[in-house]
Amino acid sequence: MVTFATVKKAVDILAEALDRVSPELLLVLTGAGISAASGIPTFRGNDPDAIWAKDVTELGTYRYFRQDPVGSWQWYLQRFDAVLGAQPNPAHKALVAIEEWQLARGGEFRLITQNIDTLHEDSGSTNLIKVHGTADRVRCAKHGCPNGSPRGSLERSSVDLATFRDAPSLPKLPRCPICGDLLRQHVLWFDEYYNQHIDYQFELAQESIQQMGLGLFVGTSFSVGITEMALQSGSLWRIPMFAIDPSAAFRLPGLELLEARAEELLPEVCRRLGISLEMDS
Ligand code: APR
Repeated sequence: MVTFATVKKAVDILAEALDRVSPELLLVLTGAGISAASGIPTFRGNDPDAIWAKDVTELGTYRYFRQDPVGSWQWYLQRFDAVLGAQPNPAHKALVAIEEWQLARGGEFRLITQNIDTLHEDSGSTNLIKVHGTADRVRCAKHGCPNGSPRGSLERSSVDLATFRDAPSLPKLPRCPICGDLLRQHVLWFDEYYNQHIDYQFELAQESIQQMGLGLFVGTSFSVGITEMALQSGSLWRIPMFAIDPSAAFRLPGLELLEARAEELLPEVCRRLGISLEMDS
């Protein structure tokens, strides 16, 4: 239950921990919950449009793409139109202010996001690792094509999607301008691996996890590999770890749960630390 007292206590705890972490690496790891206030449904959260009910593990796969490329593309067009139209919320902006504050005092900062929206980069985050890919790019489905894995991709805006939107059918699917194979989303599917594309920056993500002096998890249910890896490493090395989540149904070893909404708690923590926020000016 999120009350004023829980938010105030959470501000005290997190502000004190952040103040102590310099000059080590402050690692922030975000999930769908940080974008909830921007109107993007989470996967497993309590929000009414949470995607999980539509069995995302089935539709978010390479297998489904090959079996039904028209269906796969229609599902993603419907989702990504909402994602790409969203605006950053106070949580995204507070993380930019915290990044600048940490760097200005000689500390290190890295942000790993599981989200495929562009709200962190739109807000100005720079030390950003998009470990599950990104909605604003597509790539050739053929491994080894210059526009495909392991290193190629295309701006989504450079591809004609209108023809397919007007008449969704196999002949109208967008195709690679180099090899003619189908284009696909530039995201990590459930039946794929973090090391399949350099853009996921998996090695840098692993290195950041191993070097973190403090781990701050924002809006994630700890359901997939990268968060599992971070939790295990943090617990092993007894690294202070905090999770911001208003309705977390989990209690995990070595992780202090801050029961608050990210868009409320993070700006308050900035104010407590004297970090100037654009929204306050
Ligand atoms: N502030 C903070 N946390 C929030 C907020 C909020 N305003 N609103 C919801 N949450 C929490 C929810 O309670 C939930 O625990 O955010 C969490 C979101 O969890 P998920 O929906 O599971 O999203 P995530 O953890 O990012 O999923 C990980 O799984 O489906 C795959 O690839 C997909 O990247 C995704 C990965």
